[in-house]
Amino acid sequence: MLKNNKVFPTPQALAESLAFDLVNQIKNVDTSVNYFTIALSGGSTPRFLFTVLGDLYAGTVPWDKVHFFWVDERCVPPEDTESNFRMANETLFTKIEIPEENIHRIKGEADPVKEAERYSKEMLDFTVKKNRLPFFDIILLGMGEDGHTASIFPGYEHLFLTDKICAVVVHPSTGQKRITITGLVINNAASVFFLVTGKNKATIVNNILRDHNDKKQFPASFVKPTDGRLYWFLDAAAGSLIGNEKPGNKEIKK
Ligand code: 6PG
Repeated sequence: MLKNNKVFPTPQALAESLAFDLVNQIKNVDTSVNYFTIALSGGSTPRFLFTVLGDLYAGTVPWDKVHFFWVDERCVPPEDTESNFRMANETLFTKIEIPEENIHRIKGEADPVKEAERYSKEMLDFTVKKNRLPFFDIILLGMGEDGHTASIFPGYEHLFLTDKICAVVVHPSTGQKRITITGLVINNAASVFFLVTGKNKATIVNNILRDHNDKKQFPASFVKPTDGRLYWFLDAAAGSLIGNEKPGNKEIKK
């Protein structure tokens, strides 16, 4: 049984534990009825997880029964070093047997507004619906040092209230355009996993998990799955302020 929140000694230990849990969830779903749908986060943290999945589980998971989506993408071509698709492709997809049609990348090279519309339709066409919204078995999320998640940055909190399922945003410091799914889709999922590492995120993690008053300034605090489960997987550095316990596979009591 998955405990909701865990602190691991290292990002690698976090990745190995989360990979094990994800693989078990994939294997436990009756994919004769529906394939398994997962939306991947971007940035650097998931690299550990995707590498473990590609290196340790290439031959033991029915990857042809899994459809991959993204929670966001930078508006760059797929071969760009900034591309979230490129990172997942290098670390995972090139190592597993998976039909190309199971990989639903956000086309960062396309016109952002048109691509947000196209990707919205692709999510609607290729996922089962719950509450008339795309329903993902798993959504993976990271969190930035400013408390953003997916590409919902401070100032874009309205994307947790919009009736759109996908939006175009501008990174507040780099000016980079991004396409992101919205809070409606995130909070509609069966399981949402935050994977967060690094000391520079410890204060925000603590504020959110301890329900501090100022957590509202962080978009990640708006992730509250309607019916689904929310998990925080942290390394010791990101979880360092949560309890006085020494780091380890500690479950955070909420
Ligand atoms: C992105 C992500 C973003 C990321 C956080 C954390 O496209 O960058 O989806 O939300 O998860 O910025 O990034 P790091 O893992 O690199 O710290």
